[in-house]
Amino acid sequence: MSAHTVIVRDRAGEEARFSVAAGERVLHAGLMAGAGLPHECATGTCGSCRARIEDGAVERLWPEAPGAARFRSDNDVLMCQVGASADLTLSLRGKLTCPPQPPVCARAGILSASARLTSEVGLFDVTLDAPLPYAAGQFALVEFDGIAGPRAYSMISYAPDEPVLKFLVRHGGGPASAFLFGDSALPASVSVMGPFGAAVFDPSEARPFVAIAGGSGIAGILSILDRAEAAGHFARHPCAVYFGLRAPDTAYQLDTLAELVARADGKLSVTIAYSDAEPGEDVARYPALEFAQGFVHEVAGADHDAHPQDAIRYVAGPPKMVDAAMRLLVMEKKVSPTDIRYDKFG
Ligand code: FES
Repeated sequence: MSAHTVIVRDRAGEEARFSVAAGERVLHAGLMAGAGLPHECATGTCGSCRARIEDGAVERLWPEAPGAARFRSDNDVLMCQVGASADLTLSLRGKLTCPPQPPVCARAGILSASARLTSEVGLFDVTLDAPLPYAAGQFALVEFDGIAGPRAYSMISYAPDEPVLKFLVRHGGGPASAFLFGDSALPASVSVMGPFGAAVFDPSEARPFVAIAGGSGIAGILSILDRAEAAGHFARHPCAVYFGLRAPDTAYQLDTLAELVARADGKLSVTIAYSDAEPGEDVARYPALEFAQGFVHEVAGADHDAHPQDAIRYVAGPPKMVDAAMRLLVMEKKVSPTDIRYDKFG
């Protein structure tokens, strides 16, 4: 089957035109061609890549995707969840964006387990056939042979020139998690595409930041911390991280965070918020870290006025936590949405 031509037209009449091959998703093909297609999750949950079919036909790959919940017409599609089965014209309610930067590209890789942190969380490496440049805080899509659809995992370090991506993965209960955490035959061949995500950090912005992360949302924040430390950012712009977990026996990466705090010479604070338990012995075990009991957005909210007003706010984690943190920051603390960068993992 040959490739089809896809035209995406925005409400201002601007057009992006690109080709979609058999088996490709419209969003992914468009981004790889440099088209500024609106998107966030790239995996069917957020709804940001919604478009309407004006002409042509699509192959729907996941009709029940959560991002389809707000469809208003049978012709509505999520560009990340359709292929083109004919030449296609789509319209957007909003506008085309700038081309993705760094560019989105595809790589082949070998995935291997690096460390098991808890029964639910592990570290994995993907060795690529070539580096995949990315910004600190971004994520990539990983597709496994024989498992339908890609999974989104955030890079936990910042080494964009290296041909290895390091991921922190939480067992989500699906087939990809069963494969990764089971007695599977790792290492395994995977396809990787990226980078994605707008919750990025660049030290040239020369601003402090406050990050609120829930669970595996800490992954992208670790990449930001890695980049910030290497750039000497904390000495000029003190930063803070709030990391929400359920209880001490589900905690991970505390050693890494404590070492970062120790090296930052008082210019980085990290607070661990346990929602379901008191911190107990962790207080003595990790003197470099702060501990609190409560939901992470509430703990961060209580400290809000202690941080610089011009701080960039990063929010990363499960949708409920991100929504609660966004409400707190925007409605209660009057932080401008332009100062908030978020990533939802659903
Ligand atoms: Fe397609 Fe999120 S980008 S649903």
